[in-house]
Amino acid sequence: MEVIIKTDKEELSKEAAQIVKAALQRKPNLVLGLATGSTPVGTYQELIRMHKEEGLDFSKVVTFNLDEYVGLPPSHEQSYNYFMYDNLFNHINVNPQNIHIPNGVVPDLDAHCEWYERQIQKAGGIDIQILGIGSDGHIAFNEPGASLASRTHVEGLAESTIKDNARFFEREEDVPRFAITMGVATILEARHCILLANGENKADAVAKCVEGPITSQITSSALQMHPKATIIIDEPAASKLERRKHYKWVYENKRKLYSAQ
Ligand code: PGA
Repeated sequence: MEVIIKTDKEELSKEAAQIVKAALQRKPNLVLGLATGSTPVGTYQELIRMHKEEGLDFSKVVTFNLDEYVGLPPSHEQSYNYFMYDNLFNHINVNPQNIHIPNGVVPDLDAHCEWYERQIQKAGGIDIQILGIGSDGHIAFNEPGASLASRTHVEGLAESTIKDNARFFEREEDVPRFAITMGVATILEARHCILLANGENKADAVAKCVEGPITSQITSSALQMHPKATIIIDEPAASKLERRKHYKWVYENKRKLYSAQ
């Protein structure tokens, strides 16, 4: 795992956006896995800025979102579909036909999950997958106990996640109890996973993800088995990492090593 510690959310957002930009310049038809939540919003704002000011072109990009609430139609303001258009898609030149987000109101959820997996395969797999992390250590909606071999499936939300996400709804009771989510194994097949986290409330989860044992109780810890996982976090989110000095040293010196080549 590569651990990059930045001073604040703005800096980590810029770092993540730079990685996406470089990949997009190498491969215009990049297959980009996207996440919702507060964490990636700064990265999306930076990508929007790059599109508007630097002409970063998304016209051939194919996107796959990690998850969607079961029971919320795409037009619902708290649906992840709505979130993605509002925070990114409406502001860049992505082709709507290339956007994939699970649909939480289909009659056959399991068939839809299988269809979603097939779409990822048909697109040639995901090149870069952006991830957040839950305070319970989840990635996407893979809650504690979700199989590390899971594919796209319907998951019951953990109590802590319902509480965390209640801030987006009028009442806690309004938070959907189920979601369609890419599985841990689906996520691990992405060629490059980038996990973002900011704030002290993520410090425990980040420490378990990076330095704890690999366990389905902390599904993000499965990223330890990924050949190319980059963890980009701010200082408060890094505060419980025992080896944070080492990660900083490696980050600084690796750059020098490569620029000297
Ligand atoms: P957040 O959610 O970015 O809103 O903190 C992250 C997550 O639950 O994966």
